Amino acid sequence: LFDSVELAPRDPILGLTEQYNADTRPNKVNLGVGVYYDDNGRLPLLESVRKAELALVEAASARGYLPIEGIAGYNKGAQTLLLGKGSPLLESGRALTAQALGGTGALRIGADFLKQLLPAAKVLISNPSWENHRALFERAGFVVDTYAYYDAQTHGLDFDGMLASLKAAEPRTIVVLHACCHNPTGVDPSAEQWQQIVQVVKERQLVPFLDIAYQGFGDGVEEDASVVRLFVQNDLTVLISSSFSKSFSLYGERVGALTLVCSSKEESARVLSQLKRVIRTNYSNPPTHGGAIVSSVLNSPELYQIWTDELGAMRQRIRAMRQQLVDVLKARGISQDFSFVLKQRGMFSYSGLTPAQVERLREEFGIYAIGTGRICVAALNSKNIDYVADSIAKVIA
Ligand code: LMR
Repeated sequence: LFDSVELAPRDPILGLTEQYNADTRPNKVNLGVGVYYDDNGRLPLLESVRKAELALVEAASARGYLPIEGIAGYNKGAQTLLLGKGSPLLESGRALTAQALGGTGALRIGADFLKQLLPAAKVLISNPSWENHRALFERAGFVVDTYAYYDAQTHGLDFDGMLASLKAAEPRTIVVLHACCHNPTGVDPSAEQWQQIVQVVKERQLVPFLDIAYQGFGDGVEEDASVVRLFVQNDLTVLISSSFSKSFSLYGERVGALTLVCSSKEESARVLSQLKRVIRTNYSNPPTHGGAIVSSVLNSPELYQIWTDELGAMRQRIRAMRQQLVDVLKARGISQDFSFVLKQRGMFSYSGLTPAQVERLREEFGIYAIGTGRICVAALNSKNIDYVADSIAKVIA
């Protein structure tokens, strides 16, 4: 039966972590996967999470099946983070949220649902985008194409190109947009540019699928939701995949959510009923533990405060690392200007390193970056920054 099965290539991101784990060099650095490490190079266990988890253990209970759409408090919390506490949408019944298996799981159930609804639609993702976007929508049966996004010359946004691509799209094309902290480039449109993007999406009757996996890593939890809020304020029917993997440092718990904003409460009830069928035939219902932790934190004012302070500290540390990387590279006398790294937001920087330079970093120095040159700034720390900068200086010399 399996004779003809070909060996698949490693995953471009998680496969790199497999390689990194097998590397025995003590000074190795994993700048590949989008994971936040503290200044000691350790994955943090947030205090807000620890407290919530202790309380859950104290009140230990058996685990029944969750509802197909997940924990109600979790879904309400996720929705409130996206739409804002005072949003009239929260009470309107027009928005629905289903707990999902990470941001990836949210994208996948959204994609499966859309495939039923718009079987012939095309999906547009940014050029470049998170590697799994294309794979995931293709797996769901869509033809995936790109819209212009990154300008390698300026290390910034090709805004004219982006608008032109969106204007040329057929009505009902599904457009995947990164609502903040673009992965992999770290380059986001400005608030004014988003206004124009929304207008084009509206005029061209495109279907916006907003991916927000890094809420809180740009300017703050509220600030980073502004693009989501802009879309819904413009009366657009929108799908939103969100994730708590990074913001709660709960990667392995698969804590994500899919939120859909419909045009009426009645429509929302119909949509949820169909989404539940998609979930039921995928994984039946979500797991309890991670969702219970996130729900406790989001619904307790005390834990919420601790969490947003911790998230703020992560954000500040990443910013400090961006600055240090630029400073240290400059101090090494590098002729290239790396100041664009300071303008990028979130965990990633599209460093401009070529595939050959990335390979040298890995082979000669044990520093792992994605082949496209994406590096995870959140994995830099005061102990490895000199080594990383020295190594980069050597490969670009
Ligand atoms: C990344 O882009 O590195 C993260 O989103 C992790 C993943 O699942 O790829």
